[in-house]
Amino acid sequence: MSKKKKLLRFRENESFPNVIQPPLSDFFDKGVGKVRKHRLAGNWRKDIFKNDNPIVLELGCGKGEYSVGLGKMHPDVNYIGVDIKGARIWFGAKEALDYNLKNVAFLRIRIDFIDAFFGENEIDQVWITFPDPKEKEEWEEKRLTSKTFVGRYKKFLKEEGVIHLKTDSAFLHKNTLEVIKVNGYNLLMADADIYKSDLDNFSPELKQVLSLKTYYEEMFSKKGHLITYLKFRP
Ligand SMILES: C[S@@+](CC[C@H](N)C(=O)[O-])C[C@H]1O[C@@H](n2cnc3c(N)ncnc32)[C@H](O)[C@@H]1O
Repeated sequence: MSKKKKLLRFRENESFPNVIQPPLSDFFDKGVGKVRKHRLAGNWRKDIFKNDNPIVLELGCGKGEYSVGLGKMHPDVNYIGVDIKGARIWFGAKEALDYNLKNVAFLRIRIDFIDAFFGENEIDQVWITFPDPKEKEEWEEKRLTSKTFVGRYKKFLKEEGVIHLKTDSAFLHKNTLEVIKVNGYNLLMADADIYKSDLDNFSPELKQVLSLKTYYEEMFSKKGHLITYLKFRP
């Protein structure tokens, strides 16, 4: 993408009512180096969605195919796509606006700060779609399914809340199974090759959801990578 196009998208994001791009000073005290709760924490239903419906996050959403696709499928559920890359978020935000989806929003932050943005029990489910697997051992804590990150999600996930991981990375699939086991999380579903039987192993609802394909999924599928899925309750 050219620099000019990127800048144009950044500018458009600023005018999009469904894109929230909080400045660091809104949730981080530079002087003492401390993160504090953002004003939206605990207030998404009241201030953003104006309803009492469940909220689902898509982390590392990129162009937001799951947020928008699920938003179209389930108008009575709210979806928030989270990513740091504004030029990618732009695609999902634009589509949600074009389709007049009032239940889809995007939050542009580093996921490292995610727990500053939600209150206790505010979130029903988390989708993590094709995250960077960060295979190097020293990056273990930076994986979006590491104990460190799951610990952040637990602060706002409902007790019955679940985390879904869809990835082409056999490494991350296996590594997350290990994180689940070591930390005593509850594994609900695991499939190392979801298209092996044309998604027929899943319920009709989950089949419909899993048949949504993201930009990275399309790319990795073309390269012959197997697509995996995990669902767990932390
Ligand atoms: C491989 S891409 C996948 C994008 C999309 N889910 C898909 O499947 O097409 C990973 C995305 O995660 C985002 N990401 C990775 N680490 C992040 C972090 N710590 N905070 C915010 N975004 C992050 C990147 O900006 C990127 O858009």
